Amino acid sequence: MDRPLGLPKHYYTDPDIFAAELDKIFAKTWIMVGHRSQVAEPGMILTTTVGDEPVLIVNDGGTINAFYNICQHRGHELVLEETTQVRGVIVCPYHAWSYDLGGELRGARGNDVGALCIPKVRIEEMSGFLYVNLDPDAPALADTIPGIGDELAAIAPDAPNRQLTATLTHEIDANWKIAVENYNECYHCPNVHKAFTAGVVSPASYRITPRGNCIHHTAEGSDEAGYTRSAEESDAYGSFFTWPVSSIQCYPGQVLNTFRWIPLAVDRTLLIRQWWFDTTEPTAEQQEVIDLDWSTTVAEDFDIMDSVQRGMNSRGYTPGPLIVNPSGVADVHSENTVPHLHGLLRAALDA
Ligand code: FES
Ligand SMILES: [Fe+2]
Repeated sequence: MDRPLGLPKHYYTDPDIFAAELDKIFAKTWIMVGHRSQVAEPGMILTTTVGDEPVLIVNDGGTINAFYNICQHRGHELVLEETTQVRGVIVCPYHAWSYDLGGELRGARGNDVGALCIPKVRIEEMSGFLYVNLDPDAPALADTIPGIGDELAAIAPDAPNRQLTATLTHEIDANWKIAVENYNECYHCPNVHKAFTAGVVSPASYRITPRGNCIHHTAEGSDEAGYTRSAEESDAYGSFFTWPVSSIQCYPGQVLNTFRWIPLAVDRTLLIRQWWFDTTEPTAEQQEVIDLDWSTTVAEDFDIMDSVQRGMNSRGYTPGPLIVNPSGVADVHSENTVPHLHGLLRAALDA
C-alpha cells in the first residue's frame, strides 16, 4: 500500500516557511489564550502572544475585549505583566497615554490628538476557554471546529467554572510542528511513555481521530490511574486538539488541563501546560498529579523533540514513510494524524 511520507525537512528549518506560517496560520486561526476566570473581574487583564503578536485581553465592565497590546503613539506594549488589574484605564508605560477598557484613547498627556483606538482582535469562548483570532474575516470558532463545543461541555460540564491552578512552561528546541505532531500521535507512547500507558490510560483503548481542525484523542482510564474519582464520575480520557497549537484535555475524575504551544522561532517553541481545578492553589493530591505528569509524560518528550529538530537539520535525513491505520483512526501502532496535520498545513500555506 502507498504510505504517506513526512514533510520535506525545510518545513522545519526554513525561516521563510516560518514567516509564512505566522502570516497564513497564526494570524488567521483561532488560538487559545486562556480562560475567562483569568479576567473574571472588571479591569482584569491577561496578556499573551498569538503567533508573534502581543495581545491583551481585558474585562471591560463584564464584557471581555481583546486588543493588540500596542500603544497607538509610538508602539510600546501597553501592558507588560502577564496578568494585572487596572481601574478603568490602561496607561502606556512609555509616555503615559491612557486608554479606556474599550480601547479608546482617553488622553495623550497634555495634548489633544483626536480620537484613536487600539485595534481590536476577535475573541470567543468555548466552555470558559478564550480564543482569539487576528483575522477579522475568519469564520466563527464554532464553525471551524463544528460540534466540539457540545462534546467538551458534555465531558467537562464544569469547565467554565474552573480556575487556573498551575502553569508549567518549557522552551523546546524544535519547530512548533514537531511538538504538535508528537502530541497528536501515540505511536511513540508504548516506547517513550511507560507511566502514561501503564497508569493514566489503557493503551489498547487509545484512539486518535482526525476531524478537520480538531484531533480528538480518547481512551479508557486505567485502574491504576492516580486520579480520585467517584463512581458517578467518568473515567474516560478525552482530549480535543484544535489546529494549530492548543489542546484541552479531560482526564478521569474531571481533571482538566491544557497544552498551548507558542512558536518563538523556526526552531524554538514555548510549551505552556496549565491545570484547571476549583481553586488557584492546588491540594497536595492535585500537586502530585501535576508533578507526576510533568516529570514523566511531558518531560519524556522534550529530548525527543529536540533530537528530531537536529534530524531535520541533517543531510542524513529524507522524509520517511508514515504508519497509517487503514481505518483512518490512529491507535498506539499508527500515526494517521501526522499526515492529517500536514494536510492542514499545506492547505493553509497554499491558500
Ligand atoms: S508609546 Fe505609548 S505613550 Fe508613547
Ligand atoms: Fe509524547
